[in-house]
Amino acid sequence: MKIAVLPGDGIGPEVTREAVRVIEALDLGIELSEAPVGGAAYKAKGHPLPPETLALAQASDAILFGAVGDPDCDALERHLRPEQAILGLRKALTLFANLRPARVFAGLEGASALRPEIAAAIDLVIVRELNGDVYFGEKGFRTNAAGEREGYDVMSYSTSEVERIAHIAFRTAMARRRRVCSVDKANVLETSQLWRDVVIEVAKGYPEVALEHMYVDNAAMQLVRNPGHFDVVLTGNLFGDILSDQASMCVGSIGMLASASLGERQTAYGTFGLYEPIHGSAPDIAGKGLANPMATILSAAMLLRHSLGQAAAADRIEAAVARTLADGILGRDLGGTAGTTEIGDAVLARL
Ligand code: NAD
Ligand code: IPM
Ligand code: MN
Repeated sequence: MKIAVLPGDGIGPEVTREAVRVIEALDLGIELSEAPVGGAAYKAKGHPLPPETLALAQASDAILFGAVGDPDCDALERHLRPEQAILGLRKALTLFANLRPARVFAGLEGASALRPEIAAAIDLVIVRELNGDVYFGEKGFRTNAAGEREGYDVMSYSTSEVERIAHIAFRTAMARRRRVCSVDKANVLETSQLWRDVVIEVAKGYPEVALEHMYVDNAAMQLVRNPGHFDVVLTGNLFGDILSDQASMCVGSIGMLASASLGERQTAYGTFGLYEPIHGSAPDIAGKGLANPMATILSAAMLLRHSLGQAAAADRIEAAVARTLADGILGRDLGGTAGTTEIGDAVLARL
């Protein structure tokens, strides 16, 4: 079993270190190899996703990814910016399905930005399409008829792109509470009308699953009003990006939300995938030992479950995280005082 470890920038290396300690402590005989990515790779090798890093990722059974993004790189040409590394990996490896579970751990109800009785009911998974939408359409700058400079990004989805992510959402729902809420903006966007038409067709193959459609603006509101309503939230790349950061604060902190990015490729042990916290490189707290590593530790659990067939080990990690939180060992983001390493130590002690 081979894991490519890509720590990246800012707090990426800090949170990844704790997840690696947890994986190593399980002593499963996994081979871990590290490579630079993002701004760190640009500074060392002149490119955010060097060919050696991509090759290592391709030769592995799974990727553990920290975060990319560096204010020093924000003025670079788009193709050299750190963010292109994660976008490039998702696209090059056809990781089109991004699963972002959000649930409130016992003891965290008070940390949510919502009232505790509303937060306690949260148990949802956002199924975000990751290879299309306005992220990957034609983009550029041009001069318009009035002689003014304008920027543009084309939003589109093809039928097959929507079909494959919809199947993932319905299959995910079959293993949960059998409800799918498809989020779009079909009242304005043709991309969303196509999305809605295709989701309705795919749903016919899953008669046990209750499907509803919701406009994204309403979904943002309902996520705060009554998050317990949602089971599987199926949505596109851009809306899923925004709604998942929002869901994280319903749970308590962006430092708590893990993710799996999956495609169709199978490994000897499961489905090939990339695993990362949903947060970024957090330049404001980088290097201070303040980052909450739980999202990355929980991403490692998802990695073991989905890509390496190690469900029991994943359960152990999740139980140790739950116990750490129940024991009140919380980072500053959750109103506690524990630092990154202290949280990692606490999880290790409870494995
Ligand atoms: P961010 O998620 O990095 O940070 C937003 C806020 O949340 C900050 O105040 C930060 O301190 C806090 N935060 C984030 N993770 C935390 C953690 N684990 N523990 C405690 N607090 C945490 O988002 P941003 O500030 O908008 O972006 C910073 C950089 O990260 C940008 O360059 C952006 O492009 C990049 N980014 C990368 C990814 C990724 O690698 N997948 C995801 C999001 C943003
Ligand atoms: C995320 C991030 C990325 C995205 C950026 C860094 C490209 O926000 O993983 O949520 O928009 O997908
Ligand atoms: Mn995001």
